[in-house]
Amino acid sequence: MSKMFDVVVIGGGPGGYIAAIRAAQLGLKTACIDEWMRADGKPALGGTCTNVGCIPSKALLQSSENYDHAVHAFGEHGIRVGSVELDLAQMLKRKNKVVRQNNEGIAYLFKKNKVMFFHGRGSFAGGSAGGWQIRVKGTAEETVTARHVIVATGSKPRPLPGAPFDNAQILDNAGALALAEVPKRLGVIGAGVIGLEMGSVWRRLGAEVMLLEMLDTFLPAADETLAEAAWKIFTKEQGLDIVLGAKITRVTASKKGVSIEYAGPNGAHKLECDRLIVSIGRVPNTEGLEAAAAGLKLDRRGFIEVDADCRTNLPDIWAIGDVVRGPMLAHKAEEEGVAVAQRIAGQHGHVDFNTVPWVVYTAPEIAWVGRTEQQLKNDGVAYRAGSFPFMANGRARAMGDTRGFVKFLADAATDRILGVHIIGPMASEMIAEAVVAMEFHATAEDIALICHAHPSLSEAMKEAALAVDKRTLNL
Ligand code: FAD
Ligand code: NAI
Repeated sequence: MSKMFDVVVIGGGPGGYIAAIRAAQLGLKTACIDEWMRADGKPALGGTCTNVGCIPSKALLQSSENYDHAVHAFGEHGIRVGSVELDLAQMLKRKNKVVRQNNEGIAYLFKKNKVMFFHGRGSFAGGSAGGWQIRVKGTAEETVTARHVIVATGSKPRPLPGAPFDNAQILDNAGALALAEVPKRLGVIGAGVIGLEMGSVWRRLGAEVMLLEMLDTFLPAADETLAEAAWKIFTKEQGLDIVLGAKITRVTASKKGVSIEYAGPNGAHKLECDRLIVSIGRVPNTEGLEAAAAGLKLDRRGFIEVDADCRTNLPDIWAIGDVVRGPMLAHKAEEEGVAVAQRIAGQHGHVDFNTVPWVVYTAPEIAWVGRTEQQLKNDGVAYRAGSFPFMANGRARAMGDTRGFVKFLADAATDRILGVHIIGPMASEMIAEAVVAMEFHATAEDIALICHAHPSLSEAMKEAALAVDKRTLNL
């Protein structure tokens, strides 16, 4: 028997589950279909982010940083711990527990908000405006009908041609988060966000890590001054071996390991490693959705085509998150989910792409919002810049983490903040102040006038804002 809903969301990642909760809060009868399955066959809500992305990577980044501190930093604080031993099995067990807590948290939120959950694969089975039929194929098969459909089917890792993932030797993000042993030599293709985060985890745990990056520029999306500082810290202090301008010519996996042949700036090379992570970007996931049969339009790169409000070419079918254009970030997917639910309910939906923050969770963390200095130069915008180093911040000194700086970019004529760029401790948390400031169209002077707690890392924000007007107090 067909069940009728106001909204059916396909995909229970951060885009989909948040859209479903918001739709239900707005009084719409809502269902969410998600196919993710644990090893025991049970559902695992939360998508890539919760199961093999944001959450487990941050759990391992935290654990490996703790280990690194115990080995290298505790002594300076006057703490002698003797010999420090790594219990990788326990580290992975803890990571899995954190993931499970998040899976269960979402299931609880569905119950609380009366979102009906279906475990299985959702696909378009017919219909038109006013009543789209969605087939759910799980342990049983049934069809539901929806007035509105929100497609939130996310993304999947892009394989390197000629080197398919086996998650034994050639690893995608899921494999990179589940290595049962620390490899002696770990190769990484792609020095983007996943490459740097996962490379950092395994480097801290003792692997020799070499990253092969196709581009000649390191972290091209970041402000050049941040990318330069990060390069120095990662390659000189942390021992990440990063090769830029590497063109992979052949990858061969055998029982002994993986051999990667590449043409680099100084000719042809061969890298032998025990395991290889391939992190060269992700592709939209529309597999099994029967999107073409339904007439849903994809763009030439396979993303579902949407307008600025996330409307597809079909009436009352919407798409959000990694499966549509824009940055592949969990918080971007969530914002689109809320906005679409509100539009369906006849309310206003708000997503501001100019104030989506970016964070790379390395140590130190890298975070930014708004435009970079090189973008402002290219766009011919007159700006003033101000920077403040954590070296001159009391809290950073007390913490023993003085690497990096905060940089403000403000319009030369109006002083309005155009971008904020941070490399340093807890940059992921500090960037929130900049996002708020930019959303409220604040000036650098506004931040300079705000009282910031002492001693705190956030004082570096105030000082960088003061630096725009060349009047820092502590430098
Ligand atoms: P997804 O999270 O991919 O969820 C899609 C869901 O839909 C999945 O559960 C999938 O099984 C399900 N599905 C697909 N097709 C169907 C179907 N036909 N029927 C039923 N279910 C279906 N972003 C950040 O912002 N911060 C981070 O720190 C961060 N770290 C990351 C680390 C790694 C290693 C990776 C890989 C990604 C990371 N990301 C991070 C990116 C983030 O995970 C994604 O941007 C986010 O998960 C996208 O959310 P989504 O809801 O669009 O899709
Ligand atoms: P990415 O786009 O960040 O980096 C991929 C890198 O691989 C780029 O530098 C690219 O130039 C390089 N590359 C591409 N093809 C190559 C080739 N053939 N040989 C060598 N290098 C090649 O993508 P990544 O790291 O796979 O992550 C996917 C997405 O997941 C990110 O774009 C991001 O949106 C999201 N993510 C976000 C995180 C966060 O917010 N902290 C953490 C991890 C992932």
